[in-house]
Amino acid sequence: MMEHLKRQEPGLQTPVYVVDEAALVHNLEILQGVQQRTGCHILLAQKAFSMFRVYPLIGQYLAGATASGLFEARLAHEEMPGKENHVFCPAYTPEEMEEIVQICDHISFNSLAQLEAHRPVWEKAGVSVGLRVNPEHSTQEGHAIYDPCAPGSRLGIRRQNLPDQLPKGVEGLHFHTLCEQDAAPLVETFAAFEEKFGQYLPGLKWINLGGGHHITRPGYDIAALEQLILSIREKYGLEVYLEPGEAIALSAGTLITTVLDIVQATDMPVLILDTSAACHMPDVLEMPYRPPLYDSGLPGEKACTCLLASRTCLAGDVIGEYSFDSCPQIGDRLVFGDMAIYSMVKNNTFNGMPLPDIALRHLDGSCEVVRHFGYQDFKTRLS
Ligand SMILES: Cc1ncc(COP(=O)(O)O)c(C=O)c1O
Repeated sequence: MMEHLKRQEPGLQTPVYVVDEAALVHNLEILQGVQQRTGCHILLAQKAFSMFRVYPLIGQYLAGATASGLFEARLAHEEMPGKENHVFCPAYTPEEMEEIVQICDHISFNSLAQLEAHRPVWEKAGVSVGLRVNPEHSTQEGHAIYDPCAPGSRLGIRRQNLPDQLPKGVEGLHFHTLCEQDAAPLVETFAAFEEKFGQYLPGLKWINLGGGHHITRPGYDIAALEQLILSIREKYGLEVYLEPGEAIALSAGTLITTVLDIVQATDMPVLILDTSAACHMPDVLEMPYRPPLYDSGLPGEKACTCLLASRTCLAGDVIGEYSFDSCPQIGDRLVFGDMAIYSMVKNNTFNGMPLPDIALRHLDGSCEVVRHFGYQDFKTRLS
């Protein structure tokens, strides 16, 4: 663990996300190694992490970015100029497509109808287009909302709905099925994909293996990933794309919060924080999961167990139970780990909750507040 990540940064106003440049570079170096050894292209999936202040840094290591729609595509176009810019969205409007073809080099479609509806525009622009397919091979357990292969999924064309010949102009296939997984489920998924869609691969230019690869997690089987990429390149002569989001900023940011009050529930003290699960870390409630908190233990593991909760009106706006060597006091700061990803991109101002500031800890240890949010940010999203 990078010890400095748990710093409470007393000079910063809370709540604040602190993104750590050293941790980011650590991840980017791992990803760059995979690219160098395999010749694949790794893209930042902006849905997980869109802190565009560090896009120039990310662009030094990765091939480019991928977007979930026009706005993210525009962000990458503006803030990571000159790098590859891909987009996938289940459906694009005609107005969006007019702009997307100006700024993206690769567009993936989720249906044959969308491909054809926009054909005159993408054909004229000369961008490379692909189809997202659904390998119908689930390797996830428990999180149906994160499983694009779950029954009833709208994500990706099923084999039975594709003709034997791909429509004219299609240059790539895209699948995304994983979530926080190792290389083995990818290898397994590729085998299922190959069985169903392998006939289309000769003659294509690229394949996109989506995201959900936890490549920068300690213990991830990088050798198995690289072997798969090399075998695809060798067998089919395709350019191979990966578009992880989490792996880029995994464990590269914290959320620092202050204890504002402590109330007594029937069984344990409840710390009321200036952060909120519902507003600042919605995945905690959606997934759900218990975010890591520095210098704490599991409930009952250390001397004092507390419930960490928010100051919104939502009774369920609770982060979880944590134990401490000694009970935190009002005014103390707590540091949640792994808060760069799927956090600031999902923020909201329910209850008029202030948005956390966004800070960058530079390599020399100094912290710069990159963005401060205030009342106007709340107001300008309403009318
Ligand atoms: C199409 C697509 N690509 C890439 C990603 C990034 O996934 P992750 O952040 O889990 O690596 C997602 C996540 O939902 C996705 O839907």
